[in-house]
Amino acid sequence: MKARIKYFWTVFLFIFLSGCGATTDFISHPASSITSRQSDLYTVTLIMAAVIFVIVEGGIIISVTRFRRRKGDTSEPRQNHGNVPLEIIWTAIPLVLVITLFVFTFNTMNAIAAPQPSPNDLKVNVVGHQWWWEFDYPDLGITTADELVIPVDTPVQITLTSGDVVHSFWIPQLAGKTDAVPGQVNHMWINANQPGTFEGQCSEFCGIEHALMRERVVSVSQSDFQAWVSQQQSLPAAPQTDLEKQGQKLVASGVCAACHTINGTNAKAKIGPNLTHLFSRSTFAGASFPLTDANLTSWLKDNQTMKPGNLMGIKVSDSQLGAILAYLKTLK
Ligand code: CUA
Repeated sequence: MKARIKYFWTVFLFIFLSGCGATTDFISHPASSITSRQSDLYTVTLIMAAVIFVIVEGGIIISVTRFRRRKGDTSEPRQNHGNVPLEIIWTAIPLVLVITLFVFTFNTMNAIAAPQPSPNDLKVNVVGHQWWWEFDYPDLGITTADELVIPVDTPVQITLTSGDVVHSFWIPQLAGKTDAVPGQVNHMWINANQPGTFEGQCSEFCGIEHALMRERVVSVSQSDFQAWVSQQQSLPAAPQTDLEKQGQKLVASGVCAACHTINGTNAKAKIGPNLTHLFSRSTFAGASFPLTDANLTSWLKDNQTMKPGNLMGIKVSDSQLGAILAYLKTLK
């Protein structure tokens, strides 16, 4: 029996907590017009369910205590079969409840449907890769990774696909999940009604590092967004010191260029994340690690220990590490 109870709680906690680890829930912290409406619907449903629970469970408790069979009592309980008013009542009440929920749900679905596309919308093409997200802003000529920067209170029209296997794009505080499927384009829209950083997580099992395939949406004011756009559209400052220049040679003409793009250099490959403005981001490798000197050093020296199975697999030797790190830090 004890083992069974333990098993029940393990399964319950697994279901209850799965998918919630890295992210903030949308019910108590909605940050978009979509999740605000979903949170309202959840609250209405929860209150209705709670009232029904108290009434039904209360009725059961009263019945089994007040009307239980007493010692020596062998008579049949009073039978209510065929009581027309009772039959009508317990048919009508659930009907009203279900209709109420239907109306609330229908209204919510209408309210969160994608708005008619407008020229003011931000368009982003999102591509899932094992195990990071590519964000391409077709109208702005910007390609970045892992952190999607958007202006506050602006509809963002997203097209979603995958470069390899099925992934699923999910920022709980902003919108529900949409699959990224290879060879197919899916559409979704998001918006943020407040500035902030909103954590997300790939929510379709996509291989060994599925758990370290995270993403963030960074919502900023209109003016901060314009500043971010001009920064992303310009080239990073040219390397100044000898160490930085040496690092640029190693990165842009060496093995790194086989996978990465750095605008303004010979590195033009699109297998890995675009590094042009790497240090304008605060995380890397699928938004899995804070972008610090220590983490980037560990990554360059032995990324297979940090994120086993990732496709980079390159080990940078100690003699090249200082120069490469110095150069990468100029990519702002
Ligand atoms: Cu990508 Cu899970």
